[in-house]
Amino acid sequence: MCGIVGYVGNRDAVPVLLQGLRSLEYRGYDSSGVAVHNGANLCVVKRAGRLSALEDALAQREVNGRCGIGHTRWATHGIATDKNAHPFVSSYGKFAVVHNGIVSNYLPIAAFLRERGVSLVSDTDSEVIAHLIDYYYTGDVLSALCRAMSVLKGSFALGVVSVYEPNVIYGVRKDSPLIVGEGNKEFALCSDISGISDFCDRYFPLENDRIVRLAEGGAALFDFTGRTRAFSFQKREREEADDREEGADDMLSEIRQIPASLFLGYESFPSTEVARALNGAKDFLVLGCGSAYHAGLVFCEAMREIAGVHVRAEIASEFLTEKSCITKDTLVIAVSQSGETADTLLAADLAKKSGAKLLAVCNVRASSLTRLADVSLVTRCGRERAVAATKSYVAQVHSLLMICLEYAHISAKITKDQYVFYQRELALLPEKTEEVIRSEPFLEKVALALKDATAVFFLGRKGDYAAAREGSLKLKEVSYLFSEAYPSGELKHGTLALMEGGVYGVIVATDPLLLEKNAATVSEIVCRGASSVVVASESLVSDLPAEYVVAIPDTLPVFSPVLSAIVMQYFAYFAAKARGCDVDKPRNLAKSVTVE
Ligand code: M6R
Repeated sequence: MCGIVGYVGNRDAVPVLLQGLRSLEYRGYDSSGVAVHNGANLCVVKRAGRLSALEDALAQREVNGRCGIGHTRWATHGIATDKNAHPFVSSYGKFAVVHNGIVSNYLPIAAFLRERGVSLVSDTDSEVIAHLIDYYYTGDVLSALCRAMSVLKGSFALGVVSVYEPNVIYGVRKDSPLIVGEGNKEFALCSDISGISDFCDRYFPLENDRIVRLAEGGAALFDFTGRTRAFSFQKREREEADDREEGADDMLSEIRQIPASLFLGYESFPSTEVARALNGAKDFLVLGCGSAYHAGLVFCEAMREIAGVHVRAEIASEFLTEKSCITKDTLVIAVSQSGETADTLLAADLAKKSGAKLLAVCNVRASSLTRLADVSLVTRCGRERAVAATKSYVAQVHSLLMICLEYAHISAKITKDQYVFYQRELALLPEKTEEVIRSEPFLEKVALALKDATAVFFLGRKGDYAAAREGSLKLKEVSYLFSEAYPSGELKHGTLALMEGGVYGVIVATDPLLLEKNAATVSEIVCRGASSVVVASESLVSDLPAEYVVAIPDTLPVFSPVLSAIVMQYFAYFAAKARGCDVDKPRNLAKSVTVE
């Protein structure tokens, strides 16, 4: 899973490609590279490590040209080294290729190429692509690409340059996203619009099984048989402002942006289309991965509590073949910050093909998911750069709670008075998140205690358990501490055996009806030698003695994940900082996972 970019036009390609790669680093940061046509040859520079390593390498060399491709990598096949970095070049440097996705039949292709004398230098699935195109080249690049496409299996997006066509780039799409952009007498390719939005005000998403040829003079579209296809550019809609805080880590500044983003999100709801989709729904299924899935779990709890409706949330990568649960009256809610997560896209597509209506809750207006969906609710929390979902998770929960209330109202599951009451409580949440943000210094103190834990268990019941799952994911993701989330009541059925000195339990307790049970959980772990942190509603804290007690503003228990999540995001952030971790770009991860 990687980011690819391409440029052809009247400007120097290297700075444009680097700018694109900077925006795409969220898709992987194991290595990066560029290939530029300098009028005579393809110049390739690539480096393992962060983009800065490539920038340093390029600063030492003259790489000039107005046409090129670039890549930022998240390793799937072959470790992160210079040798495994893209672009890959065919023998004698005739073709250079950047690849996002997976070539599933690369081993037989590699054997086929080796038998014909080709030597492969990397451990990747991607390198065969460049050699295969070269192998099929008999004087026409497009025909060679088509021949190669008839052999390659898997899902991928490609950028290709060739020594034979000095001012031309090709883009190929088979199941992985690729955007074609048009600027002022210049064209670009990119895994998403963010990498080229500075200069491309018109774009179109490449369809599956298509090849686009971009030259200074214009664009042309082909299918995999080489037949010309029609296309048209559309005007790009503006995404939300990118309000990055100077000098602060992205994760920290994104946590601090939560109140502002909720105020904004609240103004934009409900739209007529969302209301119509809810009105026709007889049952619901939520799909998402990671934090987005956890937001779905909060929705399930809210739907049960408020509307009395049982809703399922599925981890998108587990929703592989199941269709029986879907009817034409099912509303599938696909939740995704990026709208590019491959598992979520595949699951949403499968659900749609099975007859469901698809509602996307997504933070990127022009994304693969919003294009696939029948109707979209854009969370509008602005660009999220840090790999850890923070403001986007809170915005997803908030949006899903609004959806829950609208549904309960439209389908008369609650009275008008109840609706007004819930609305009022919901409207108070943005302000209450401000209160949580104000407790940042104290949360840092607690995080400094957690940072030395041998393991951290996040515990809760019902909605608090859903929130605990997100808290645990955040901590392990950025601080690399071992962490697990567990339903408090289940502890005594096995996991309690792990409680001992050095272990921390973070107990999320926001439901007055569960106060005694939560107090019992704290005692259970403390008397086994573990340390305790309680994250509880203000009115409950006095009954929940623990080593550290964090009070969050009172709200309805089903709404409280909006607040408790922020506390746990701070725990993760400050613990990771204290442990010297790269909080914005944790090891082994990428912001957007565009492979299955
Ligand atoms: O872009 P998406 O919301 O679809 O991403 C889904 C997950 O990859 C994402 O939430 C991931 O779990 C976060 N890095 C967690 O902080």
